[in-house]
Amino acid sequence: MTTLVQAWTGAQKRLKAAFIDSPAIDARLLLEAATGATRTDILTDPYRELTEDQEALLNTYLDKREKRMPVARILGRKGFWKLLLNLSEHVLIPRPETECLVDMVLKAYPEGESFSIADLGTGSGAILLSILSERPAAKGLGTDISEEALAVARDNAAHLGIASRAAFLRTSWGDGLHDATFDVVVSNPPYIRSDVIPTLDPEVKNHDPMLALDGGASGLEAFEALAPEIFRLLKPGGRTWLEIGFDQSEDVEKLMKSAGFEDVATYLDLSNLPRVVVGRKP
Ligand SMILES: C[S@@+](CC[C@H](N)C(=O)[O-])C[C@H]1O[C@@H](n2cnc3c(N)ncnc32)[C@H](O)[C@@H]1O
Repeated sequence: MTTLVQAWTGAQKRLKAAFIDSPAIDARLLLEAATGATRTDILTDPYRELTEDQEALLNTYLDKREKRMPVARILGRKGFWKLLLNLSEHVLIPRPETECLVDMVLKAYPEGESFSIADLGTGSGAILLSILSERPAAKGLGTDISEEALAVARDNAAHLGIASRAAFLRTSWGDGLHDATFDVVVSNPPYIRSDVIPTLDPEVKNHDPMLALDGGASGLEAFEALAPEIFRLLKPGGRTWLEIGFDQSEDVEKLMKSAGFEDVATYLDLSNLPRVVVGRKP
């Protein structure tokens, strides 16, 4: 029989040998999920024995992590903002740097304010649902080209209890939506240059959907489509927040200005990298 502490040590060894970046954290997260034990249990009840089923499940998880599947993908869930979101292989694992965009929108719209928001390329619904969960008077629409991604977003909206304020539509960006409909439009589109994708970590290039990563030869293809489209969808005075790659600020600002936006500016994330471009429709 294996105890919690033996399982944790053994799991760390396996992940270290497979050159996984954060073996201790990943081993703990997978052990917690396989056994139902908490972090405190592992420390305060280290000699608790695993059942055979728990040990088998942990081994399955470790096999996948050794093959560079991310923990969030193995477990099918990820914490983002204050939410725990369900995932499938059809959605991007929401990234901590995207929380910066959520924070900026929330600061611009104080609690109690009612506004309408569109999230173009919503994936798991991470951005839209985080904002709606904090602003009960707001309502929103998430679009995605992937029906499978939208199924995940709808499921997340339902389990978070905000389905009545979150609609989802399969379309390319804002196709089919009326002009001047939204106070706010946000997007974290695919923005990685096609030729960079093969150089990414296996966790990303083999496990995030290509639709969520590939920004075309220039990395800017989605922004070229989005800039005029967001301008069209916003009400006069409406504002947009767009996540960008660290080296795309100048190009995206230029696209936004050409589309007619005013007050175009770029904000840094917590690592001091350019991350969010903002603009306002006059
Ligand atoms: C980088 S992911 C962002 C997902 C989510 N918003 C987030 O921040 O975690 C980009 C998303 O855009 C979607 N997408 C790609 N091309 C699209 C298009 N033409 N129209 C709508 N959505 C698109 C992808 O399916 C993917 O879900």
